[in-house]
Amino acid sequence: MSRSQTRLRCPDTVNVLLLGTGGREHALAWRLKKSKRLGTLWVEADANAGLTEIGRVCPEPINDMFRLVRWCERENISLVVIGPEAPLAADYATKLADHPKRVVFGPSKAGAQLEWDKAFAKQVMRAASVPAADGRVFTDAEQALAYVETRVDGCVVKATGLCAGKGVVVCKTIAEAKRAVEDCLVRKVFGDAGATILIEELLDGPEVSVLALCDGQSFWILDPAQDHKRVGEGDTGPNTGGMGAFSPTPKATDDLLRIVQRDVLVPTVDALKRMDIPFRGVLYAGLMVTPAGPKVLEFNTRFGDPETQPIMARLKGDLVELCWATATGQLSEVELSFDRRAACCVVVCSKGYPGSYPKGLEITGLDEARATEHAPGEEIIIFHAGTTRKNGQIVTNGGRVLGVTALAETVERASALASEAAAKIHFDGAFYRRDIGRTL
Ligand code: AMP
Ligand code: GLY
Repeated sequence: MSRSQTRLRCPDTVNVLLLGTGGREHALAWRLKKSKRLGTLWVEADANAGLTEIGRVCPEPINDMFRLVRWCERENISLVVIGPEAPLAADYATKLADHPKRVVFGPSKAGAQLEWDKAFAKQVMRAASVPAADGRVFTDAEQALAYVETRVDGCVVKATGLCAGKGVVVCKTIAEAKRAVEDCLVRKVFGDAGATILIEELLDGPEVSVLALCDGQSFWILDPAQDHKRVGEGDTGPNTGGMGAFSPTPKATDDLLRIVQRDVLVPTVDALKRMDIPFRGVLYAGLMVTPAGPKVLEFNTRFGDPETQPIMARLKGDLVELCWATATGQLSEVELSFDRRAACCVVVCSKGYPGSYPKGLEITGLDEARATEHAPGEEIIIFHAGTTRKNGQIVTNGGRVLGVTALAETVERASALASEAAAKIHFDGAFYRRDIGRTL
């Protein structure tokens, strides 16, 4: 963001371009649509069927920055909301905000480095004395292998670049750690993203994510949500992008949130500021609550997917105004509150996920799922993730296909209702976890 945009007034009518094509973005779009300031909502051409139903399709290819910027000018886009990490890492935030009347929700490439470079994140945390797992950075396989020989209590080997959630290996034995080091530094399975690795001490404890909006100065901590990463019920099987999420979660107590704000969020953003990097967007701290207090495992610089689905279901207030305030340093002037009801999102997946899966399968039962019997005060919202339209039909187009989300009095009830609705959705091989929000 250029300095001239700081404190720029939010126009009465805001045309928005939303970047990203998945479930998180459908949840953001659904909430943006409720804003009284929203003019036209534009989405990417290859966005899922839920997004293209509520947004107009941007005719320009997203990867042609020259044309995209000219199109933004023609369509009078005054707010760009960036969902995923890849455009943040490609500095879309800076490039698209290069206009006196357009602002971007999402940090610059320099701010997003907290996510796309785990070695940089470690360096910032050290400089800011943020509690985190001890770790060392390596580029040389021999040195890394010699180091893991000494890690008899286990360790965690992390590719430092963006690996779509696949670059972290928790190693209980030295042999596992050696294999993980060799995968990155010798076999180069992650390419450049794994050319530098971080070897961390193995921590133990419950995991909590804390997401905050940050305008470079002030914070709004969002009501905490928790996701389930393992594919199988009872948190078993391989890791996925997230099989479901719920909010609120009893794990993130007010005390914990206060500690995280004081010891993690504020010092991290201050350290960036000292490096002349104003951080504006979502700061997402993945934490492990150890006996010595919460320690940071990773930072993301965007909303989580699928945590955004229950968060947006519960968010009150105007999302256009919130994004605008975040992007222009005016967060202290807006109000943020959450529905007191709980929300639970159950992700319906394609057979084979998180491995390979078929695409193009016809999806039925969406209306029946929405019509699942529920009490007054309860709600069912179906967010699309990996879907598209083919010959007028909605078909599968990804591993995580739909996020069936319910709002109800308790997490348990929201979970039961979302699972009941998910059962009405059919495509060949569809599956979901019935225990989202129940194995706390
Ligand atoms: P990350 O992408 O860094 O959050 O790591 C993915 C997952 O690996 C986390 O959600 C944890 O379950 C696990 N993990 C990461 N770092 C550590 C650590 N230092 N100790 C134990 N588990 C970890
Ligand atoms: N659900 C975890 C993430 O979005 O990174």
